[in-house]
Amino acid sequence: MPFTVVVAFLFLAFSVDANPVLITSSPVTLPISRHLNLSSIHNLVHHDQTRARYMKNNVECSEPKLESHVVVNEPVTNSAVQYTASVGVGSPPTYYNLVIDTGSSNTWIGAGTEYVKTSTSVETSDTVSVSYGSGSFSGNEYTDSVTLASNLVVTKQSIGVAALSSGFEDVDGILGIGPVDLTVGTLSPSIESGIPTVTDKLFSNGQISVHSIGISFEPTTVTSTVNGEISWGGTDSSKYTGSIAYIPLTTSSPANLYWGINSSIRYGKSQTILSNTAGIVDTGTTLVLIASDAFKKYKTATGSAADSTTGLLKISSSQYAALSSLYLVTAKGTFELTPNAQIWPRSLNSEIGGSSSSIYLIVADLGHNSGQGLDFIAGMTFLERYYSVYDTANKRVGLATTSYTTATSN
Ligand SMILES: *[C@@H]1O[C@H](CO)[C@@H](O)[C@H](O)[C@H]1NC(C)=O
Ligand SMILES: *[C@@H]1O[C@H](CO)[C@@H](O)[C@H](O)[C@H]1NC(C)=O
Repeated sequence: MPFTVVVAFLFLAFSVDANPVLITSSPVTLPISRHLNLSSIHNLVHHDQTRARYMKNNVECSEPKLESHVVVNEPVTNSAVQYTASVGVGSPPTYYNLVIDTGSSNTWIGAGTEYVKTSTSVETSDTVSVSYGSGSFSGNEYTDSVTLASNLVVTKQSIGVAALSSGFEDVDGILGIGPVDLTVGTLSPSIESGIPTVTDKLFSNGQISVHSIGISFEPTTVTSTVNGEISWGGTDSSKYTGSIAYIPLTTSSPANLYWGINSSIRYGKSQTILSNTAGIVDTGTTLVLIASDAFKKYKTATGSAADSTTGLLKISSSQYAALSSLYLVTAKGTFELTPNAQIWPRSLNSEIGGSSSSIYLIVADLGHNSGQGLDFIAGMTFLERYYSVYDTANKRVGLATTSYTTATSN
């Protein structure tokens, strides 16, 4: 073997064994918009708790895999903070505004903009239907070209085209990037392996070399902005600092249906709020939700009071000055939420029904006590402080600090 070939071979072998070959600055990125609109709901907390309840109950439905089992997601009109991306379907593509959801795995359109069929649109003989708590959709399955970026088109991707949908008002559907198992039972007639997600399809088509997604979100103090990015097949090193800590996916059910990890939660230097347990990271949840018993400890530790208008905990400015950091402590790293990262952006207080002079905490009650296999949800307010990686190939979630991790932005 010529020397160069040996070197190349060794390099490849090494890279594959040690770590997947990550494209350091992935060219295949999709910008994500963030939009806050709370006009139609009681409060943020209620929305997140509803989603959490469905996510937790999913376990009963998924074993055995029933055709009608509920795939959990947020009721989208109830979503205060939505992260959406413009995704093309067909050739030439028509663009649809889709919710980026790591907590569900069906990709579908048709809630708003009507499906424009082109020569690449093929109707299958199957129907799809997914319930999302207070929202749902049902319709026909098609395969079509899905344009994620100008240089990243997924051909023959299964998509749902809604004939009926409820609970989706300002969006056209969902780009489901959760684990494929969540699609099992959504197709009729049912297929055992589920419906490959866009990520699965890109990988099996050989269009990305790493079966993984990287997501960057950033804190914001305005209601609408484009401040996120999703990368397929690699991570965007311009969006994080230091190295990525990879945490193995949890084996605990039902967190293992999602992007679940084990972690404990600590307040300040030494107070354990939640002992080591399973939870998930989720782009469809806005707040950081922790089990009720942990939430009580957090409330006491911070001296905060429940605010009935927003549903959030409220603190005074002197309590804010005395607030300690909250830490997610995993086997592979500790992730700090500084005092500033624990408060809702004050300039958006009125958007959630709060008073502009108050300080609200983004840590809320999950709605059930710990020990149930899904004891915390690190939602957007966490993910806006950390770069996150959803690594199907190696069954792990990556987290890395960013320039926003300790920033004073709220
Ligand atoms: C907010 O949501 C409501 C209900 O879905 C919708 O009617 C309204 O147009 C939205 N506002 C903005 C600014 O998007
Ligand atoms: C996570 O925690 C559960 C419950 O304590 C434990 O059984 C499991 O081995 C832990 N690790 C992983 C990777 O799931």
